[in-house]
Amino acid sequence: MNERQDPDQYGVVGHPVAHSWSPFIHGMFAKASAQNLVYRIFDISPDNFRRDTLKLFASGVRGLNVTLPHKQAAAELVNELTPRAARAQAVNTIAFFEDTTLLGDNTDGAGLTSDLERNLKMELGDKRLLILGAGGAVRGVLGPLLEREFREVTIANRTPRKAQALADEFADMGTIAGCGFSELRGPPYDLIVNATSAGLQGEMPLLPAGIVGAATVCYDMSYGRGETPFTRWAKSLHAARATKGWGMLVEQAAESFLLWRGIRPNTQPVLEALAKHF
Ligand code: ATR
Repeated sequence: MNERQDPDQYGVVGHPVAHSWSPFIHGMFAKASAQNLVYRIFDISPDNFRRDTLKLFASGVRGLNVTLPHKQAAAELVNELTPRAARAQAVNTIAFFEDTTLLGDNTDGAGLTSDLERNLKMELGDKRLLILGAGGAVRGVLGPLLEREFREVTIANRTPRKAQALADEFADMGTIAGCGFSELRGPPYDLIVNATSAGLQGEMPLLPAGIVGAATVCYDMSYGRGETPFTRWAKSLHAARATKGWGMLVEQAAESFLLWRGIRPNTQPVLEALAKHF
């Protein structure tokens, strides 16, 4: 008799997490690459994160994505961190190996750089980059971004001292400065990445118009249906491009899949399916 093996178990842990697109994305990856796996959503509150996540691994789960608000707690939970996760002090992917090692990785930055380079065809070297925000989302992507040898990187934040502290922490990786929004000046940046959570409250920080020009690419790390306050702002200033973070979401998932299964799936069919849906 031909016995079919049980599928390997994966999933995403967050709170709230019910509307995650990760099961859809990993489901498409698995089908296209003929990997026998299931991918589920696990809503776990911060109080129970450690206990319930360890229980999942004890019950046979082989890998988890970790989303808000658990990325820093996940970095403390694992036995080992990849260099990029150690640099970020945040984990969005955990892999459980046979020898009982829990390895924490962070694929957010690679997801962002892949989307910029592979999908948007941007050449990042020698460009001027402005990052808005100085929270966990920025910490997760700064290392991989700074590896791209931008000419100049500025972090601007509502609370300027947090931007300065982050710039100091990553100063060994490039020319990087932190400031408040009102200190920003032209000439226009080549790339502006919005990593604030202002859009979730329907808000847009007040920024000087001179930082956007006809060649500026504006990238909102958040995603959803329709325009965000940031993409609306970018379009009103005639930026070259105003993009949301769907591509980053799909590319970071592909990097997680690579860590778990040793295969980097083709992301194009998933990007096309999402584009059709939205
Ligand atoms: P995340 O993990 O999404 O980065 P976070 O660590 O809470 O979440 O950081 C949120 C970021 O969005 C911060 O940079 C925050 O600015 P402060 O450091 O001043 O709090 C920024 N932010 C949130 N709401 C904002 C708003 N209405 N206007 C501008 N910036 C905002």
